[in-house]
Amino acid sequence: MTTFMSLFLLLSILMTTLAQLAAADFYKDAEITWGDQRAKILNGGRDLTLSLDQASGSGFQSKNEYLFGRFDMQLKLVPGNSAGTVTTFYLSSQGAGHDEIDFEFLGNSSGSPYTIHTNVFAQGKGNKEQQFQLWFDPTSSFHTYSIVWNPQRIIFLVDNNPIRVFNNQESIGVPFPKSQHMRVYASLWNADDWATQGGRVKTDWTKAPFTAYYRNFNIKGCPKSSTGSSSCGSSTASSDNEGWRTHELDAAGRNRLRWVQSKHMVYNYCSDKQRFANAVPAECKRSRFL
Ligand SMILES: *[C@@H]1O[C@H](CO)[C@@H](O)[C@H](O)[C@H]1NC(C)=O
Repeated sequence: MTTFMSLFLLLSILMTTLAQLAAADFYKDAEITWGDQRAKILNGGRDLTLSLDQASGSGFQSKNEYLFGRFDMQLKLVPGNSAGTVTTFYLSSQGAGHDEIDFEFLGNSSGSPYTIHTNVFAQGKGNKEQQFQLWFDPTSSFHTYSIVWNPQRIIFLVDNNPIRVFNNQESIGVPFPKSQHMRVYASLWNADDWATQGGRVKTDWTKAPFTAYYRNFNIKGCPKSSTGSSSCGSSTASSDNEGWRTHELDAAGRNRLRWVQSKHMVYNYCSDKQRFANAVPAECKRSRFL
């Protein structure tokens, strides 16, 4: 072997190791909370699968709770006939008056598109749904779904494309999640009473078990310390790790968001005049993007 080749080999081993260090470890950072053997951590903590059969679904949560951060997850959704199934990746606090930031993936019959359902709860109140259909098949390969949560705004991203921005508009009386720690949750469960085409299409149990794939769970945020306050590990601070704190859309981001919202949004609570009896929520009047 030439020196050049061995150097190259060494470099590629080093780079693979670094890439593995960067992604979180499901053994270290998450715990399976329900579904017994239906949830499996694989490949030394790099991958996690959830499955659903007629008896139960399954789920996991992060060990830590966070107050602000950026949360990335790669997901490959249940393929084929996924009607009736719901796959989730969300943040939630516990107890009464809870805060929550949701990504839910509503399955569909073979050949019909998944719906991405998003919502934001602050102090127990939600009713801020926006739904999208994707510009790719989310069951054929992994894609990255991210939640950026800082004191100014919440941004939902798909493969780094912003699909929704929920700004902090406390100044006009709209509650915003900013004082309760949240944990990351993920689950696969049966919701065929409502999920697919309004509950008309049921889960086909002859196709069970259904499986969803998670990997590259990546959290840059402020975990709750043992004293109950938040600590944002300044030892690892770098512009790359800290960008989420001030993340906002630049011109390219705004263009991308406009494209997603005009071409791929299938429901927007802000346009649902019937539901709100012509009195749309205050935040809807402020932003073109809500
Ligand atoms: C499923 O596909 C139908 C069209 O075939 C669509 O109307 C519906 O919104 C899709 N998603 C869900 C969750 O029902």
